[in-house]
Amino acid sequence: MTLVIDGLSKRYGQVVALDRVGFRVEPGEIFGFLGANGAGKTTAMRIVLDILRADSGTVTWRGRLSTELPRRTFGYLPEERGLYPRMRVLDQLVFFAGLYGVPGAEARRAALGWLERFRVIDLADRRADELSKGNQQKIQFIAAILHDPEVVLMDEPFTGLDPVNVSLLRSAFLELAARGRTLIFSTHQMEMVEALAGAIAIIDHGRLLTGGPTREVRRRAGRPVVRLAVEGDPELAWVSSLAGVRLIRPGPGISELSVEPGTDPQSILRAALARGAVVTCFEIADPSLEEIFIELVGRPPDDGVSVGAPAAVESAA
Ligand SMILES: Nc1ncnc2c1ncn2[C@@H]1O[C@H](COP(=O)(O)OP(=O)(O)OP(=O)(O)O)[C@@H](O)[C@H]1O
Ligand SMILES: [Mg+2]
Repeated sequence: MTLVIDGLSKRYGQVVALDRVGFRVEPGEIFGFLGANGAGKTTAMRIVLDILRADSGTVTWRGRLSTELPRRTFGYLPEERGLYPRMRVLDQLVFFAGLYGVPGAEARRAALGWLERFRVIDLADRRADELSKGNQQKIQFIAAILHDPEVVLMDEPFTGLDPVNVSLLRSAFLELAARGRTLIFSTHQMEMVEALAGAIAIIDHGRLLTGGPTREVRRRAGRPVVRLAVEGDPELAWVSSLAGVRLIRPGPGISELSVEPGTDPQSILRAALARGAVVTCFEIADPSLEEIFIELVGRPPDDGVSVGAPAAVESAA
């Protein structure tokens, strides 16, 4: 019942785009696929869709090889958007659904429903090239799901959307997942992943770095982060003098501190109170995905020994 990606490798000449990447996505799951630019996300998605052939490895969905599944099993929101510039919005939605065998009248009804829902019903008869970028993207999303695929792969679906549209798309994600559809999306927006994805994979230079249920990945990362705010003291300069504590993201507002293993996070609170500070926020949390990502991906290549703080975090401190 699961989407199983197993040992995928792909080279483009000398470039190793994927190196034995494997992970699983459960049905009805919203899955975040993360990695730096050039990590291999688009390549992996195109292999799942059978647009591209892997050098080795397999993709199976419900126990069947993806290469043997009907096309309509999958929906795809490609990285380079592919609407026909001169075709009218509704016409092209009906056209795309038709490619997957959806009868015209049915496709039209479904398309109008989605256009309404995405607040672009007034654009139904406009040419795609007359639409703004964000609106084109919404149309492209509708095109990806109109045939009601079991698995939807979306390459950076949130990029360039305003907050209202982000929220419309988010609720569409949640509804599709609640109906048992499986959603895989790539993004560089970590807060989107934290808000939406029940499970993730992070790849870098074609290799899987970590993956699994989002909460587990965060817990596994170990070192807790303390979020602290003190009234009238946005700098929290005194924190740096505490043993095993480092200010990784200074305020204003809430600052974030990393805590070395063996140091009790509560000691920070005790130190603050001992100074007579008015603590307005104190929270012990697992590291955010952004921190985990920077820690894993931001490390210089071939740096097997010094697992020091990543450069980006250092310079911010
Ligand atoms: N058609 C191609 N020919 C040669 N090299 C390619 C081709 N497509 C991708 N690559 C290389 O394969 C690697 C993985 O690229 P891919 O597009 O899968 O990365 P990505 O994770 O999607 O990156 P981004 O976040 O920038 O979209 C990169 O080094 C890229 O340069
Ligand atoms: Mg890509």
